[in-house]
Amino acid sequence: MDQEQFKLLLVDDEADILDSLKRTFRRDYEVFTANSGTEGIKLLKSERFDLIISDQRMPDITGDALLKFAMQAQPEAIRILLTGYSDMESLVRCVNEAGLYKYISKPWEPEDLRLTVVRAFESISLRRQLKAISEQLKKAYLDVVTMLSVACEGKDKDTGFHVRRVQHYTEALAVELGISQEHAEHMGVMSILHDIGKLYIPDVILKKPTKLDPAEWEIMKRHTEFGKHILGDNPFYEIAREIAVCHHENIDGSGYPNGLKGEEIPLSARIVKIADIFDALTSRRPYKKPWSVEKTLGWMDEQCDSQLDRVVFNVLHQLHEQGVLDRIMHEFQVADQAENDPYNLQL
Ligand code: C2E
Ligand code: SIN
Ligand code: FE
Repeated sequence: MDQEQFKLLLVDDEADILDSLKRTFRRDYEVFTANSGTEGIKLLKSERFDLIISDQRMPDITGDALLKFAMQAQPEAIRILLTGYSDMESLVRCVNEAGLYKYISKPWEPEDLRLTVVRAFESISLRRQLKAISEQLKKAYLDVVTMLSVACEGKDKDTGFHVRRVQHYTEALAVELGISQEHAEHMGVMSILHDIGKLYIPDVILKKPTKLDPAEWEIMKRHTEFGKHILGDNPFYEIAREIAVCHHENIDGSGYPNGLKGEEIPLSARIVKIADIFDALTSRRPYKKPWSVEKTLGWMDEQCDSQLDRVVFNVLHQLHEQGVLDRIMHEFQVADQAENDPYNLQL
């Protein structure tokens, strides 16, 4: 970030000090001055600053009070106090209550003060860059995950917005189960990839309008391991991998591919399994009509303790009663065939 974009506020009631401060900084930054605390507060209400330097002793409002106001009004701005020898008490107050970055004792060397400000701006710059980069990365990974799922839906388009609904059911279930918002959101995004292994399943099997024969079923079951393979070994996608491999395991050990039991199955996969089955049953598939929510929940209730985790299912039921499932279902719904296949690719 360019230094010239930084804005400074200098506050001192003594005209010659204010002048010398201004001289120190005006070449490198956009400088605003105030000759009293009141004037300083007025400027803080109308301009955004990156850094504020205030004298402690001023007749109307003292420096620590001004900086305390600044901390509330513009928490991002860096705060520096100029103090004399006898200002110890207000200095301590200022450090504690106004989140002081640094204090400068009078008299000061202009060059020291200038360097202090340069360092402060370097740290602001880095913080802003880091924030911008991490936002960019977050958006980039979300986009890639979505691109992959679009690719997968193209192959298996009857499932339409299936993965987006599973994402939001998963996130809602995770939050209700006490997982932090941030982790729940991540789990939701990772759940988008649960069936990514279907990319390796031949279309004649994937799109077969009737029941699979035993040989086809053996191939279909491998979408779990194919998913893990596609998802590679980046630690960031660990949850996506455990979901891909384990979302067809059953609580009693009768599932695939590894016959895991109970808590051997990662919680993420127990959650996604419930989200996935709820969505599969309430949606149209090449081989079946959609079921009603009541029929679906009734059937799933009977599968607890054999296939499904009872605790997670109870939360699903609770979300239904709160209207959350309905909201997600309607938000991610394919309006018509054209929307599902926008370029008429006849995939
Ligand atoms: P999917 O269609 O996304 O279904 C995910 C899971 O939802 C299924 O896992 C199953 O637990 C549940 N589910 C979906 N449809 C039904 C249904 O009609 N009845 C019941 N009781 N449960 C249902 P599952 O069984 O391990 O299947 C995994 C994937 O294998 C399915 O994903 C689908 O792509 C494919 N598949 C399963 N059965 C058939 C079939 O009879 N014909 C075809 N063409 N594909 C099938
Ligand atoms: C997909 O639409 O991405 C495939 C999901 C599924 O069939 O379960
Ligand atoms: Fe699956």
